[in-house]
Amino acid sequence: MARIWLSLLVLGCFQRDTLCFLPNPFSAIDTNDYTHTDITEIGVLKAVAKFFEENAVQACRNCSNGALTGLPDITARRLYDQYYGGQVSEKRFQEAIDDLVKHNNKVDQDHYSEAAWHFNGEQIKESNAKMQTLRDTLLNTLNSSNPNFDAARELIGQYLHLLQMFYSNTNWVEMSGGQTAVIYQPLGISGLPIMAAAPPSIDTCRSCGGTYSSDCQNNLIVAGNLLTSGYKSGQDVVKPAKNPGSVAEGKCSHGGPRDSSATSSAAVGGINKDSMDTTYSPHHHLHEKAAELAIDHTRLFFEDPTYGLRKLVGDDKFQDLLQIRSGNSLVFVIDTTGSMGKDIAAVQNKTAEIVSETKGTPNAPYNYILVTFNDPGNETTVQKTTNPDDIQRWLAAIQVHGGDDCPEFSLTGIQAASTVAMPNSNVFVFTDATPKDPQKINYITSLITEKKLRVQFLVTGSCTRKRVSHDHIHPRNVD
Ligand SMILES: *[C@@H]1O[C@H](CO)[C@@H](O)[C@H](O)[C@H]1NC(C)=O
Ligand SMILES: *[C@@H]1O[C@H](CO)[C@@H](O)[C@H](O)[C@H]1NC(C)=O
Ligand SMILES: *[C@@H]1O[C@H](CO)[C@@H](O)[C@H](O)[C@H]1NC(C)=O
Ligand SMILES: *[C@@H]1O[C@H](CO)[C@@H](O)[C@H](O)[C@H]1NC(C)=O
Repeated sequence: MARIWLSLLVLGCFQRDTLCFLPNPFSAIDTNDYTHTDITEIGVLKAVAKFFEENAVQACRNCSNGALTGLPDITARRLYDQYYGGQVSEKRFQEAIDDLVKHNNKVDQDHYSEAAWHFNGEQIKESNAKMQTLRDTLLNTLNSSNPNFDAARELIGQYLHLLQMFYSNTNWVEMSGGQTAVIYQPLGISGLPIMAAAPPSIDTCRSCGGTYSSDCQNNLIVAGNLLTSGYKSGQDVVKPAKNPGSVAEGKCSHGGPRDSSATSSAAVGGINKDSMDTTYSPHHHLHEKAAELAIDHTRLFFEDPTYGLRKLVGDDKFQDLLQIRSGNSLVFVIDTTGSMGKDIAAVQNKTAEIVSETKGTPNAPYNYILVTFNDPGNETTVQKTTNPDDIQRWLAAIQVHGGDDCPEFSLTGIQAASTVAMPNSNVFVFTDATPKDPQKINYITSLITEKKLRVQFLVTGSCTRKRVSHDHIHPRNVD
């Protein structure tokens, strides 16, 4: 048992190597350490808790100011239980969080040796420029009418990694008050200047004594409002060499057992706040403070009233990005080829009835989707709305045209519907024909299964040109 524990620990040491904050709980040395995973998750949960407080639903047991944001030991499960009264699964939200965390942690794998991806080696301006570029690209991505949310989460994961590293690797926490430090708001925002980094001519640290434990807390000597950060061996920005035997001052190191610059060149020691463990972090005493600021800033990245993502892209995209919508879609897939002419009024009658059944009730869907398809298959239209009056209007306005041969392209319509529908949605398909595009059936079946859609065919015939009468519209379940 003891040996297994030891080997896990050793593995952890290698993984954590250059990292500022450790990537995840399995790489943390001290079990109380805050990792990038913790920091990202708590920051996102608090931002969503705030959104929920401002958008209370009936099921919410206590949605007053502070009731959700102040939940002790907040998790997605606890937040959802409190907000939705146990009625809604947090699974999709948790998946979005996990996605952000994955891309955050991946920066360490992909950019291990690049100081500017870690705010190391006084690459303050360069790291900040990376953040600005990531954020601008993100805003651009989300500005599209149909954004790629996967790409957006990747950009956010990378951005938050840099943001969080700022607090562990630079002297900001020490400079802005140590235990009373505050967040550095202009970080990573295009158009907002940040403080200068100490130039090469200025020594920023004095050498610590033999250990990092308690005698390496007051080693920063950089004066005025200059930012600095530690140099780390093995990265592409190398610490200026000074003989530690004869010189006591020099640039700061990152520090820790895997940073040889911390002992081979003055100033001896380091300033990282990755861990509470004294051997790994010369500034271990500020680890909790750095993590607290990183969490706060992660939260503000989403909810800052001026620069927050929610403010800039709007609540709808914020919800889609973090997958926090509840509810499903009510989807109609309707054949508008000429052969439907006789049946279309009955279809309109039936669909209107389906919409009315739940309109204004707690069972109402989150949104309504109308897909029409014709012949050939490229004439498929998709309309989406959250307003039941819109869908009623669109359904009433449907006209049939063309495509008098049969059978028709119903699977193309179902595919379009399955792509835009929310999980667990009801899909009603109205057609009089057997599908003309059955080669798609496997792909569409897996789409339907994955999203747990309930598809019902409401057939009005099988394209025999012998019409059944309108009141014979009948459901046929497809699972
Ligand atoms: C709701 O939460 C707030 C903030 O935590 C608390 O002060 C208040 O007592 C709670 N109200 C109820 C009815 O539990
Ligand atoms: C978003 O797009 C609109 C035009 O579609 C443009 O006017 C606006 O500047 C864009 N905003 C951002 C942040 O790119
Ligand atoms: C729609 O249904 C109602 C009764 O449910 C019926 O009176 C009406 O004639 C129907 N309209 C059409 C166009 O089928
Ligand atoms: C559908 O495809 C046909 C043939 O490829 C083309 O002539 C027609 O313009 C297309 N219609 C639409 C709505 O794209």
